[in-house]
Amino acid sequence: MRAAVVTETRPGERRVAATPETVGKLAAAGWTVVVQSGAGVRAAAADSEYADRGAEIVGTAKEALDGAAVLLVVAPPSDDIIQLMPVGCGVIGLLEPTVPTTPLRALADQRATAWALELLPRTSRAQSMDALSSQALVGGYRAVIEAALRLPRFFPMAMTAAGTVPPARIFVLGAGVAGLQAIATARRLGGVVEANDVRSAAAEEVKSLGAKFVDVTEGQTLEGAGGYAREATEEELAEQRARLADHLATSDVVITTAAVPGRRAPRLITTEMVERMRPGSVIFDLAAETGGNCELSKPGEDVVHNGVVIAGASNVPSAMAKDASALYARNVATFLLLMTKEGAFAPDFEDDLVIGACILRDGSPVHPLVKEALGA
Ligand SMILES: NC(=O)c1ccc[n+]([C@@H]2O[C@H](COP(=O)([O-])OP(=O)(O)OC[C@H]3O[C@@H](n4cnc5c(N)ncnc54)[C@H](O)[C@@H]3O)[C@@H](O)[C@H]2O)c1
Repeated sequence: MRAAVVTETRPGERRVAATPETVGKLAAAGWTVVVQSGAGVRAAAADSEYADRGAEIVGTAKEALDGAAVLLVVAPPSDDIIQLMPVGCGVIGLLEPTVPTTPLRALADQRATAWALELLPRTSRAQSMDALSSQALVGGYRAVIEAALRLPRFFPMAMTAAGTVPPARIFVLGAGVAGLQAIATARRLGGVVEANDVRSAAAEEVKSLGAKFVDVTEGQTLEGAGGYAREATEEELAEQRARLADHLATSDVVITTAAVPGRRAPRLITTEMVERMRPGSVIFDLAAETGGNCELSKPGEDVVHNGVVIAGASNVPSAMAKDASALYARNVATFLLLMTKEGAFAPDFEDDLVIGACILRDGSPVHPLVKEALGA
């Protein structure tokens, strides 16, 4: 049983899908993990560390994929890598099945069986494999650090001989996994934190972290299936923006994390709202890559409008590649071990997690999203 790990091909991707630690865990279950030399370097994992834990180090992606039963990736593999996959090979990763550029057709042509970890049902049994949560945690933390670096102010209150500096005021929009981590991080840095969400459970979670919950929906929750937020109507969004505007106008930092699964991010901050903010304030938009919570955000860019910096996120977890990979690789290994029985790769398609995340089985689309994308 050979599992391949190749150097990630997406520009700017620093993470890796297996670490020396997970190579050891997989080896104990009968896997030979074949790692392309240098695959872990950008995540601070050296070839020698992989080899010490039982990995086979090879020079090229072609050698890594030779005879592989499964390819472990972070981002969707490039067409070149897919061409090197043995016919019928499995692939596990954040495969972005709803993004039009995802190479679903190439994977189907290779008769691949593919699991997109973002589709894993978020049940309690799946928690240890939940890559969306592990990477959102990293993103929420890093968003605050990025905002702090752009803020021309302290986060904590400073009482000095030269006078007192008041603490920064931070507003966190969306209190899911990333938002809660952003709240905790901003509090640790000494900021005064307010937050908002549209799910009923969020208020208690926000308060338990020592932040103030700002209700912008007048007690009405916008809840959909599975405890997630549902998409707000245009009217609801307009009301929410009107209530948010005053809070944002007095905030030094706004971290936006609002998202609705499978949908474009809700547009919660308009240009007009930015124009009411004070010069020097910073918005860090973690939702920039899925449409942006702020109208002015551009992924991977800092836009300055009236002295307010609007920083658009671009693959934030990759900036913390070592810890992001440590968590992600554990998610991947746990999922692969779920599909390993007595030393054999034996996915049980009756298992709700195995079938829930599966987008292609022997090249045939099995998930409604992928059936639609491939016109099946
Ligand atoms: N395995 C599990 O049991 C598990 C794992 C992870 C998350 N969850 C649950 O999933 C939910 C959130 O997960 P997530 O962080 O992946 O969510 P997400 O990334 O889809 O969304 C981020 C947050 O944005 C909020 N949001 C959506 N529209 C908004 C709006 N108009 N205004 C303000 N906020 C808005 C959502 O309610 C959510 O809290 C929570 O209920 C969490 O407890 C469960």
